[in-house]
Amino acid sequence: MKILGILGSPRPNGNTATLLRHVLEGAAAQGATTTTISANKLTVRACQSCNACKKTGQCVLKDDMQELYGKINEADAVIFASPNYMGGISGNLKPVIDRLYSYISVTETGELRTMIKSPKKVALLITQNAPEEYTHYIEAFTPLRGILHLIFQGNFDTLVELLVAPAMKGPQSVANNAQLLQKANTTGAELVQPK
Ligand SMILES: Cc1cc2nc3c(=O)[nH]c(=O)nc-3n(C[C@H](O)[C@H](O)[C@H](O)COP(=O)(O)O)c2cc1C
Repeated sequence: MKILGILGSPRPNGNTATLLRHVLEGAAAQGATTTTISANKLTVRACQSCNACKKTGQCVLKDDMQELYGKINEADAVIFASPNYMGGISGNLKPVIDRLYSYISVTETGELRTMIKSPKKVALLITQNAPEEYTHYIEAFTPLRGILHLIFQGNFDTLVELLVAPAMKGPQSVANNAQLLQKANTTGAELVQPK
């Protein structure tokens, strides 16, 4: 099983990177092959809303997203990991997520369908300063979880798995939270298990 982690934090050793690493280690311990891509190192332009992808299934923009599409297509599971920036995902990850639009087709009756060739497991990891009690922060990711589920699994019925690391007070907060690291390991192991 191939698992692709896409890191949305610019900090290579920050909370999000550490959390993602532990999820991937949990998966690797179950036999998965894992790869991490840092969105901060990619040049991914914003979606131009040209809708060319609706005719061909392909994005016409020629940048690092093309290689990432290839890696996503090859993966059995994809993990998106982002710090919470201003109530949403980071600017590094946002163009990547927007460019997943090329996987969505719209039927004549306006229904959304995925064009992904093979369904994949998908998870969203979020680290944030806000404590767990700020539930509206977590709820803000509900629409994205539905969209990711549509793209990777084919429907809106279920939300993708979400792992939130709250109350991060510095870049090493995750590394000092054994309970959270254990949860990350378990999440990774579960991604490898058959549904
Ligand atoms: C530009 C920016 C915006 C942020 N906005 C929020 C926010 O809206 N809510 C929040 O809880 N934390 C916010 N934070 C804090 C980060 O989400 C938190 O520190 C996170 O753990 C950083 O992840 P990293 O260590 O992987 O970089 C923000 C941090 C930055 C730099």
